[in-house]
Amino acid sequence: MNKLIGFTRKFSSSAALNSVKTVTVVGGGLMGSGIAQVAAQAGQNVTIVDIKPELLDHAQKSIQNNLQRVAKKVHKDDPIKMEQFVKESISRIKITTNVEEAANVDLIVEAIVEKLEPKQELFNKLDKISPEHTIFATNTSSISVNAIGSGIKRKDRFGGLHFFNPVPVMRLLEVIKTESMSEETYKIMMEWGKSVGKTCITCKDTPGFVVNRLLGPYSAEALRLYERGDASKEDIDIGMKLGAGYPMGPFELADYTGLDTNKYVLEVLHKLTNNPVFRPIPLLDKMVSEGKLGVKTGEGFYKYKKYKGEARLARTSTNAFQCCVVLCQSSQANIACEDPYCILVTKSDASAKDIDTAMKLGAGYPMGPLELADFTGLDTKQSVLATLYKETQNPVFGPIALLDKLVAEGKFGRKTGEGIYNYLEKI
Ligand code: CAA
Ligand code: NAD
Repeated sequence: MNKLIGFTRKFSSSAALNSVKTVTVVGGGLMGSGIAQVAAQAGQNVTIVDIKPELLDHAQKSIQNNLQRVAKKVHKDDPIKMEQFVKESISRIKITTNVEEAANVDLIVEAIVEKLEPKQELFNKLDKISPEHTIFATNTSSISVNAIGSGIKRKDRFGGLHFFNPVPVMRLLEVIKTESMSEETYKIMMEWGKSVGKTCITCKDTPGFVVNRLLGPYSAEALRLYERGDASKEDIDIGMKLGAGYPMGPFELADYTGLDTNKYVLEVLHKLTNNPVFRPIPLLDKMVSEGKLGVKTGEGFYKYKKYKGEARLARTSTNAFQCCVVLCQSSQANIACEDPYCILVTKSDASAKDIDTAMKLGAGYPMGPLELADFTGLDTKQSVLATLYKETQNPVFGPIALLDKLVAEGKFGRKTGEGIYNYLEKI
């Protein structure tokens, strides 16, 4: 699968290894174990810290399994090298429940629970016990990076390194550049990202960064569509896979990322943006309170055998097409709607190219949202948004100054040779 090519080729290329040789990952759950795995694969010595010893055991087992999957791909014709690769990578990983034992490293990546206070407490403690040169990074999905680091002194050596689930497979790393981050730290983070096989994009410390800012409204709209009974969750999932080419439907993805994570991300985005599209979803709150967190607890929107995702058949039905249309429109609206579009593009928090790269490599979309907007036609997008806005009054479909401007100038996308991108220049 081409998603793996990135890291298989880049194991040994690494300017960053001159700067980052030792890494600590705090939090050995879904994300922390993946981050530790890719660093160990790249030849770095890694320590995983978790407060729960049983989670450390689980992390080790899942890393072992996932390394075997990678080994099969990288050394498919050589069983000896395959075994050696797994053995050597595993030997570079230590585990501990004592963060003090793991503070003396080049880079510390935090991947603990998505809550501000525990993250702040952790970094405040680390700031006191880590050596001067240690760089700190948070893998937060949605919380302000600045707020997480507000109590530390080394603000120049602190930022966001936002990985995507499953870390060994998704080729994207969002590097979140705070205003106080030094250029040197930024460079080291970008190089380190490359050294662990990722394509790095840069985003300012803006709510949800790129991928979650766009995925958040999409998944919230899917949940509401289901909550209202407009379509079944199975049909919505089929709709997005067959209608939009996404690798997973929104309910499969929510189960995969964890419903608790989804809930926290929406809460934080709602608080930070006050955008009603992120308002609480009673169904999600209920499921989280019942401990139905998705794959990791064995049940979410679907049930999982032995905590492992079951393959589900893509069943077609008449409803599938309809809900695909509704959801596609809502997800396109996220792309071009006032909120993400203005914030991410017109305020230049991320470039159009980085936004497209983010969604392709971070969420497996076949096309980036802005490429898709040009492909669909910006005039069509404008009309669809206007209709949806009229019918729903949902601000996510509201007018977008830049879209209106491009359409008024006759720049409809690919069909006119210019839209968000200029196709004429490429010829
Ligand atoms: N480690 C190593 N390899 C893995 C792996 C892991 N954890 N998980 C899967 N793989 C490999 C498999 O071995 C398989 O390899 P082959 O092709 O050689 O068989 C390949 O990846 C594909 O896996 P599967 O066949 O099991 O399943 P799939 O083809 O359906 O792909 C998927 C699975 C990669 C997860 C795909 O469904 C996908 O891309 N889904 C979208 C995931 C996504 O959007 N992630 C971002 C979520 S948002 C986020 O993370 C940010 C946040 O803050 C919440
Ligand atoms: P998880 O629940 O799987 O793992 C969190 C781990 O942190 C648990 O093992 C827990 O025991 C441990 N922990 C909690 N407090 C700790 C502390 N003070 N010290 C050490 N360990 C501690 O969660 P996850 O899905 O891996 O998410 C971790 C972080 O990564 C969150 O900030 C989340 O928003 C972010 N993230 C998640 C995803 C995703 O798809 N799940 C994607 C990108 C980023």
